[in-house]
Amino acid sequence: MRTPLMAGNWKMHKTSAEARELAQAVRERIAPASDREVLLCPPFTAIPAVAEVLSGSPIRLGAQNMHWEPKGAFTGEVSGEMLRDLGCEYVIVGHSERRHIFGEQDEILHRKVKAAFRAGLRPIFCVGEMLEERDAGKEREVVERQLRNGLAGLTEQETKVLVVAYEPVWAIGTGRTATPDVAQTMHEHVRTVLADIWSGPIADGIRIQYGGSVKPDNVASLMAEPDIDGALVGGASLDAESFGRIVMFPSS
Ligand code: PGA
Repeated sequence: MRTPLMAGNWKMHKTSAEARELAQAVRERIAPASDREVLLCPPFTAIPAVAEVLSGSPIRLGAQNMHWEPKGAFTGEVSGEMLRDLGCEYVIVGHSERRHIFGEQDEILHRKVKAAFRAGLRPIFCVGEMLEERDAGKEREVVERQLRNGLAGLTEQETKVLVVAYEPVWAIGTGRTATPDVAQTMHEHVRTVLADIWSGPIADGIRIQYGGSVKPDNVASLMAEPDIDGALVGGASLDAESFGRIVMFPSS
């Protein structure tokens, strides 16, 4: 049984004071529930403030990116060890904005995934095709390549804490959500690739989140699909009311 992971990715939004307020509002709205896990990923600078607000609550804390080395001369970067030190349990790796705006490629992302485990963090490894790739009928191929390259050589132990997020680039921040059918087809594909890399039982245990314009009114139909194990929410996670409604989607 995979516990859904409902995560908010705040991207480059919120000062410390604003983040504190939002985290507090989220905390007040979300009733503890054992059938779902909730995660907030604020920007680096707001992590300590959010950690303070979440202390003693079941809501988990994560970061949006990290460097692959534990320390060194890497001006402007933050390591997994530093994030762990602040109380982060999760880290998003390979978000499409990292891939497409900052040019992060498979090899770098593979290093980051390995480094996340080294630091004791659970990586949320993002994959997803661009619109041109889908229009060219290449979405399955693109996602398979991202998975095989990014997740090569993981130990069985590491697969137990790995999370994958399928986020079609054309659905991120566009208001254009993948239909539950389209999303399920891709999630099933992701699971098949994971089963081929490791084994069926290992793939069955890995949570695959959907991301891309998840909103309160579409979350339940997405979550009803058998291979969708949570949501990675951008825009709608910046509002406590809408994120609260997403997190508390009625489970069937
Ligand atoms: P969105 O972002 O919900 O604003 O589409 C999702 C994401 O980028 O993770």
